Amino acid sequence: MASLLDFDRVEPPTPAEQTHSRPRVQAPTNGQLALQLPSEIPHLAIEPEWKSQQRLWGHSFHPMCSYLASFPAGLAHAFIARYTRPGDVVLDPFSGRGTTPLQACAEGRIGVGNDLNPFAHLLTAAKVDPPSRAEIKTRLASLRLVWAGAAGQWDRLADAAVAAPGSEAILVPGPGSTLGAPGQSAGTSVRPDAPLPIEVALAFHPRTLAQVLFLRSSLDADDRIDRFLLATLTGILHGKSGSYLSAVMPNTFSMAPRYVRDFVSRTDFHSPERDAFTLLEDKVRRLYRQPVPATRGIALLGDARDAGVRFRESLRARGLPERARLVVTSPPYLRVVKYGYYNWLRLWLLGYDASAIDDLLDDAHHRDAYLVFMREVLRGLRTALADDAVVAIVIGDVELDRGRPANGGIGLAESVWELAAAPEGYRLAGVAIDDIAAGRKMTKLWGDEAGQATKLERILLLSTGEGGRRRAINGASLPIDWDWPPKTPRRL
Ligand SMILES: C[S@@+](CC[C@H](N)C(=O)[O-])C[C@H]1O[C@@H](n2cnc3c(N)ncnc32)[C@H](O)[C@@H]1O
Repeated sequence: MASLLDFDRVEPPTPAEQTHSRPRVQAPTNGQLALQLPSEIPHLAIEPEWKSQQRLWGHSFHPMCSYLASFPAGLAHAFIARYTRPGDVVLDPFSGRGTTPLQACAEGRIGVGNDLNPFAHLLTAAKVDPPSRAEIKTRLASLRLVWAGAAGQWDRLADAAVAAPGSEAILVPGPGSTLGAPGQSAGTSVRPDAPLPIEVALAFHPRTLAQVLFLRSSLDADDRIDRFLLATLTGILHGKSGSYLSAVMPNTFSMAPRYVRDFVSRTDFHSPERDAFTLLEDKVRRLYRQPVPATRGIALLGDARDAGVRFRESLRARGLPERARLVVTSPPYLRVVKYGYYNWLRLWLLGYDASAIDDLLDDAHHRDAYLVFMREVLRGLRTALADDAVVAIVIGDVELDRGRPANGGIGLAESVWELAAAPEGYRLAGVAIDDIAAGRKMTKLWGDEAGQATKLERILLLSTGEGGRRRAINGASLPIDWDWPPKTPRRL
């Protein structure tokens, strides 16, 4: 059985995959997600229909950039379709690459995401508040024009940086600054000039590197159009096919900097020359295969522990309903993914230090600290929830902690219920269990044993009151429409 996690593939499906048969409406059948419920709780079954959809089911913005431990859009849809109506607010306090808020916006709901990782925030913000296709085209044309006049200068800089990588004498402009005039562009994302890290110099062909440096310094992450282009650029930065700018590492995550240095010197590897503008335009074309989402959402940058207050403030500021009817989220897994380290090249592009991001995030806790963290998150969230809100939390068991047996990683979802959710007054509607095939997903991260890093995933279905609990139970078996993109407007 496939995992909920989705970091194998991020490119559009082949025609063969497109023809994968999809029933229009699937009535739930029993059995695929077994439920473990205390005996007094009525049984309900959540059919994992998202697993029988084509791999890239959902809005065409979803595969903008790969993101470790993201869940499929179909999982978000299974809850959005059952538990909300158009106009309702849907929250995700750990939004990652923005799966829940984007799919909510694409279905006419108000999707609001929050993440403490600036890379995740960039992806979420780009997806829930995108520019029009015309705006993107105009901006790309003007960037090409500027590039045509300045290419020589950038080529010389790239050549000098490649010839003396890491040298303090060769400084490259930071994100959002301009060559020769550092710090003069608009926005808050201006970073000072700095030497080019050796591994970055090794990752690209010098001509491609010149374009990457130009785009990095020209794009302003605080501007809606540039933000979309920057997020798209992170998605094509590295990968093994001709659609990526560097071939030195896979698309799913960054290989360790030391590995990059060793690999390049051992194999005399030279990344092929790729045209950044052409690849960016190609990717933009694929992303805009579907109309932009029906509603505009909100992306917040911050700690999930106080996301509830910030969710309400941001919704109030836009004159929108302040309380959510649904949360679909997956918190960081217990010591499984280092979001900074595994994205160091993308974070360099954005001007962030990968280890500082890892210090910031709550992805390195042992069990007890994790449960305290989750309790604080659930406490903070209550303020932003409607009386009949449903809260779906995807939590993976963690069998191994960086290769060693994990302490308290098994039955983590049940512990989150007992020690984090119940004490904060939540009610339990059910716990769905998903058996993951060993050998998939985490394998690349921790070596041979890594296929067992997470074994079972559970979806905790919670509510804040009796109304929400009934809604959660009654809605679990509702048949939903899996046509995507929708052929007819969905029923209210
Ligand atoms: C399992 S991922 C979520 C993936 C998401 N469901 C998706 O489909 O892309 C967990 C996320 O939690 C974020 N995170 C870690 N600690 C956090 C904190 N204290 N507050 C908010 N977000 C945090 C990480 O940056 C990561 O994006």
